[in-house]
Amino acid sequence: MKSLIYLSQPNQEFSRSALTKLATEAAENNKAIGVTGFLRFQHNMFLQYLEGKSADVGNLLAVISRDKRHTIVNCLYNDVEHARRFSNWNMKFVDEGYLQQHSVESFLSNQLQLMKEQTLCDNQWQQLIWQGVDILSECAVNNHKIT
Ligand SMILES: Cc1cc2nc3c(=O)[nH]c(=O)nc-3n(C[C@H](O)[C@H](O)[C@H](O)COP(=O)(O)O)c2cc1C
Repeated sequence: MKSLIYLSQPNQEFSRSALTKLATEAAENNKAIGVTGFLRFQHNMFLQYLEGKSADVGNLLAVISRDKRHTIVNCLYNDVEHARRFSNWNMKFVDEGYLQQHSVESFLSNQLQLMKEQTLCDNQWQQLIWQGVDILSECAVNNHKIT
């Protein structure tokens, strides 16, 4: 299982309904190709995590990065083999309600900020990003509150 997480800047306005449409279509397509992950829109930036077979994730990223509606500013790859983290999430749109319910709001917000600013040295911020993904995945799997 290969994974990646990227931060992108939208090149147009995304209304609530446009975001819902994007996430619904992404989830349908990802289900068909066996890719799972999450999509977050916050502070006018997208944060998306994708996991699946290396070729499937790579092909999907190629499609997504050609999409003129946004520009990828930072992308982290994880080539280490690991189990699927979000087996039930074809492309979960992680909204405020979800984050509040599971008390991980500040967590993803920090993650996004880290990817944007990269204030720590490479290793540190990359580790924090992957830790963030792990925490959210515990939440997805166990559906419990993170304390
Ligand atoms: C932020 C962002 C995330 C996206 N994520 C996905 C995704 O996970 N899966 C997907 O199929 N399309 C995703 N898309 C849409 C694709 O870029 C593309 O528009 C869609 O796959 C249709 O491609 P096609 O016109 O070549 O058929 C995303 C688009 C944006 C702007």
